[in-house]
Amino acid sequence: MIDLARQLSVDETPNTLAELIMKLADVSGEIAAKVRLGALSGVLGSAGEQNVQGETQKKLDVIANDMLKEALLSLPQVRAIASEEEDNVVAANHGGAYIVAFDPLDGSSNIDINGQIGTIFTVYPARDEVACDSSDQFAQPGRSQVCAGYMLYGPSTQMALTTGGATRLYTLVPDKGVYQLTETELRIPADCQEFAINMANQRHWAPATQAYISGLQEGSAGHRGKDFNMRWNGAMVGDVHRVLMRGGIFLYPANTQSKVHKGKLRLLYEANPMALLVEKAGGKAVAGAENILDILPDQLHQRVPVILGAENEVGIFQSLSR
Ligand code: AHG
Ligand code: MN
Ligand code: MN
Repeated sequence: MIDLARQLSVDETPNTLAELIMKLADVSGEIAAKVRLGALSGVLGSAGEQNVQGETQKKLDVIANDMLKEALLSLPQVRAIASEEEDNVVAANHGGAYIVAFDPLDGSSNIDINGQIGTIFTVYPARDEVACDSSDQFAQPGRSQVCAGYMLYGPSTQMALTTGGATRLYTLVPDKGVYQLTETELRIPADCQEFAINMANQRHWAPATQAYISGLQEGSAGHRGKDFNMRWNGAMVGDVHRVLMRGGIFLYPANTQSKVHKGKLRLLYEANPMALLVEKAGGKAVAGAENILDILPDQLHQRVPVILGAENEVGIFQSLSR
């Protein structure tokens, strides 16, 4: 078996980037240990505070954010960080070549029910022409990512990672805190018969989204001519993981409710890293007519519709959006 450090070396990952990834991996092992103990480690429940997006923070949102933040700020190769749980960009080290954005804990509503949760992260090159603590550091399209990944804290802890090549999957050996390579190259089949969407929002969707989902529900009796199954984890990290493992399409579209009229998920640290992982596994990721990775962000915490997974299926949604 090949461990993460060895595979990063085989992939000729620059040393400073490999060190950064190993640091994220180490911290995720510590988070996984707390998650595994659940109520016994005092990480469940609300922190009683709100983040900049008006969401009530869970204890684990805050704990995971603090652990990742402290670890990353200590690295000389990190110039700045951005997090779902930080209002603004946090400057790190002037000479750093990289900037890092993360969702410390994705799927917060699953924490207290012992459901799937995870950490999502992305690394971009630092911009020399911009101040360390400026949000313009992160005003780069997703195509500029040098690395993207997530850790899924499920029955086993796994990390999906791309450093520009194939999307690989690693599994944590809990007692050793080491990730072993368990899938060399994840591939998403171009067609699928499984979709994931929060159906409770149906009445708020745009007409094109309504029409698309109706076609899936009509199944073999309708114009699609095949039946579809549905799954919804309530954590993007779990839903995208399923798509990477066995195919399918995941959607969090825009809807007419004011809070999510541009979608619910955040471009920088949710949509972009997942879009890169999916594209590197042969899938597709769009916000409607445009590919997610081509969007130039104008706000740090901006939201975006996310439709990703099987190439042909996402293509059908995209053509209905044009
Ligand atoms: P977070 O816990 O980081 O705020 O993200 C939650 C997101 C995402 O993980 C998931 O796909 C979505 O919210 C679930 O939304 P619903 O509550 O509409 O199911
Ligand atoms: Mn999230
Ligand atoms: Mn989160």
